[in-house]
Amino acid sequence: MIFLGIESSCDETGVALIEADAESMPRLRGQALYSQIEMHRAYGGVVPELASRDHIRRVLPLTREVLQLARAELCDIDMIAYTRGPGLAGALLVGAGVACALGASLGRPVLGIHHLEGHLLSPFLSATPPTFPFVALLVSGGHTQLMRVDGVGVYRLLGETIDDAAGEAFDKSAKLLGLGYPGGPALAALAAFGDPNRFALPRPMLRSGDLSFSFAGLKTAVMVTLRRLGSTPSEQDRADLAASTQSAIVDVLVRKSLAALQSTGLDRLVVAGGVGANTLLRAQLGEQATRRRFKLHYPELALCTDNGAMIALAAAMRWQRGAADARTEHDFNVRPRWSLEAL
Ligand code: KG4
Ligand code: ZN
Repeated sequence: MIFLGIESSCDETGVALIEADAESMPRLRGQALYSQIEMHRAYGGVVPELASRDHIRRVLPLTREVLQLARAELCDIDMIAYTRGPGLAGALLVGAGVACALGASLGRPVLGIHHLEGHLLSPFLSATPPTFPFVALLVSGGHTQLMRVDGVGVYRLLGETIDDAAGEAFDKSAKLLGLGYPGGPALAALAAFGDPNRFALPRPMLRSGDLSFSFAGLKTAVMVTLRRLGSTPSEQDRADLAASTQSAIVDVLVRKSLAALQSTGLDRLVVAGGVGANTLLRAQLGEQATRRRFKLHYPELALCTDNGAMIALAAAMRWQRGAADARTEHDFNVRPRWSLEAL
């Protein structure tokens, strides 16, 4: 079976082909990605209308590119998967529209995939895939969640952010520091030159007794600290503040992940979503994994942020366990807000 995956929920158009049989691990045949980061940079964040229009421009050329890479033809595709939500409604509609049009013209079934399911299954495409059950830390621009994952489609929410997501905390703090969009990688780069212990920033909800997160206060603390530093903070001040911010976010993510492992009694942690690319987070989790003897899994670095491969993979894994309720009618809708537990 060959699965085409289309991702268009935010500012990346991703297309990929995955091949799968009934049992073995699905294999990536080819993928292509177009990031709109340059276009949105001028506005300091994603402009939804521009995102939708750009997905329209990119999705068919990317599909042609992937078919060429995989040496496949359109008629080789057996099932078409697209991101049904959550995400920007207009952007989602582009992927859904193209997937359903392809399905109708090729006479193939179409399957709408939950974006976060794509993220949390993405480590199955890595060289050392996890096995079920595991705890998943989903850390993206829009979500910060700890899930218990017992199998494909068997997800239980353990805790999530009550306000900003971790990626949002990176992005908003970066903006305050005058760094470009997206803020995560920029803040991490500046932090490399700073002292993480210079500013004591809040680590909210560490003692909440549950697995909830809260990051909104951090951005306020960064703002107040910047104000105290005066109108022209030095390069070192900014680097120290970036390092202290990164350290606060990572500290909370690591400690809550450890608490989730302890409360579930599981010994595997999967980290997925854009913030999972953060070097400090990886280093600190790696250290804890060695010390506490749990296994740690990430997607390949290129599959940490949004991509089509994770969408095709989720479809393939659903099909393998007989849960791919793909449709042969090609009317469609998208779900800009969609809980993973509702799957
Ligand atoms: O998963 P993703 O690509 O898109 C969403 O579904 O949101 O995640 C994007 C988020 C952004 O907030 C970005 O700043 C953050 O991931 N990010 C990082 C790093 N790379 C991406 N945050 C911290 N360190 C990084 N290296
Ligand atoms: Zn994402």
